[in-house]
Amino acid sequence: MKNKLIIKNTKSKFYHKLLNNEVVYDKKPLKRYKQNITSVYSKDKFKNLDLLKNKINSIKNCELKNSAQQIVFSDGNPDAKVMIIGEGPGANEDKEGKPFVGRAGKLLDKMLQAIKLSRNNVYISNVVNFRPPLNRRPTDAEINRYLPFLTNHIEIISPKILLLLGSTALNALVGNEIVISKARGKWIKKKIGKINTEVIASFHPAFLMRQPEQKKYAWEDLKMVRKKISELKIKLNG
Ligand code: URA
Repeated sequence: MKNKLIIKNTKSKFYHKLLNNEVVYDKKPLKRYKQNITSVYSKDKFKNLDLLKNKINSIKNCELKNSAQQIVFSDGNPDAKVMIIGEGPGANEDKEGKPFVGRAGKLLDKMLQAIKLSRNNVYISNVVNFRPPLNRRPTDAEINRYLPFLTNHIEIISPKILLLLGSTALNALVGNEIVISKARGKWIKKKIGKINTEVIASFHPAFLMRQPEQKKYAWEDLKMVRKKISELKIKLNG
């Protein structure tokens, strides 16, 4: 009986390794997939970002990575106290290797400008770091697979304010049961990985391009971000 279990675990370990290389196997069911991505990190933020980028780039058996041209890791200022999370790269981002450089990105830049922010004083990334084929929404399995990376990314940047754009980022980081139209424009104090941050969700710029009448709500949310920056006495550089 004992032997059988060992053989089974060895097999599971083998198949698990084939499928997924950023978690380790544990034979206790509750901890079966222990995340093992923080152990290599040091105190140097830039080194950690590089390590994380390499770690994501070495993901195996991932449809997103296999169909994308390159990783889209981040843009903006790694020392920023405001971090913005979108859904995933589109065609332009895939080509340039930077988040939010297409039409939605242009609108995001205008939204930031409206509250006197720019890419010099925010840091931007996405829930998934490779373009989903045909710009489809990442699947739940894909989101779960990239979530440890995103959590670690947030830990490294350690933002005081986290702005989630759209339902994919909201559902990945706050909860699946919430809808963006109800959750937007509300501050949530949240612990993500090892850090505590103030989270607010708003509409995704791509959605706002399709439904411009919703821009008034996004404007309310942006003003809340601006107010929070003052309340938290965040110094803006750039
Ligand atoms: N939409 C996103 O969610 N992220 C990008 O980087 C570009 C478009």
